[in-house]
Amino acid sequence: MHMSTREYVKNLIKDRNIASITPTSKKGVEEICSRMDLSNPVTIIEYGPATGVFTNYLLERITVDSKIIAIELNKNFADYLKKNTKDERLLVHHDHAGNVEQILDFHQAGPADYVISGIPFSLLDASDRDDIIRKTSEVLKPWGKFLPYQTFFQKDEHLKLYLEKYFSVVKDNYFLRNFPPMRVYEAIK
Ligand SMILES: C[S@@+](CC[C@H](N)C(=O)[O-])C[C@H]1O[C@@H](n2cnc3c(N)ncnc32)[C@H](O)[C@@H]1O
Repeated sequence: MHMSTREYVKNLIKDRNIASITPTSKKGVEEICSRMDLSNPVTIIEYGPATGVFTNYLLERITVDSKIIAIELNKNFADYLKKNTKDERLLVHHDHAGNVEQILDFHQAGPADYVISGIPFSLLDASDRDDIIRKTSEVLKPWGKFLPYQTFFQKDEHLKLYLEKYFSVVKDNYFLRNFPPMRVYEAIK
């Protein structure tokens, strides 16, 4: 069952951290997920899954022994995902991405192969951005990838400069076949 647009927008009005008027399009999801190799068992961490457009796409493609740890700050979305995406490879936490290390310890999981993130870094203050991006690099395997996406108008100070501080390679592209267009990053540890 999909969350209706009306329900999605109702959540958006109440919670500015959702920050996007629509879920990422199928093309956007494909573009970002094409940067992952899903042919082997992987541990993926997802920040801000909301209604699960990435989560469901990935669950259809990862191996039986892979897992996804999803961390969602909005309780309605976390509850929705828990209720509607029942798969033993998925672990959903209603929590802040800044608690990623404790969540991995709790599951005796990690390090991760990939972290994907839809959270709006522009709304975080500088110390929270730095903290989340540093912790993300720490929970990844060597050569693991962090794949955050943002709306296209984000400034380098919102994310790119922090990625360059903690990752050895940072690629950055615009993806226009999404509304609104996205700025997609690929940061390799
Ligand atoms: C722009 S939406 C992206 C939703 C979905 N991944 C997509 O692509 O359609 C951002 C999501 O991040 C969540 N979020 C915002 N700040 C967060 C944080 N610090 N930790 C975890 N989730 C957060 C919001 O509640 C919202 O569901």
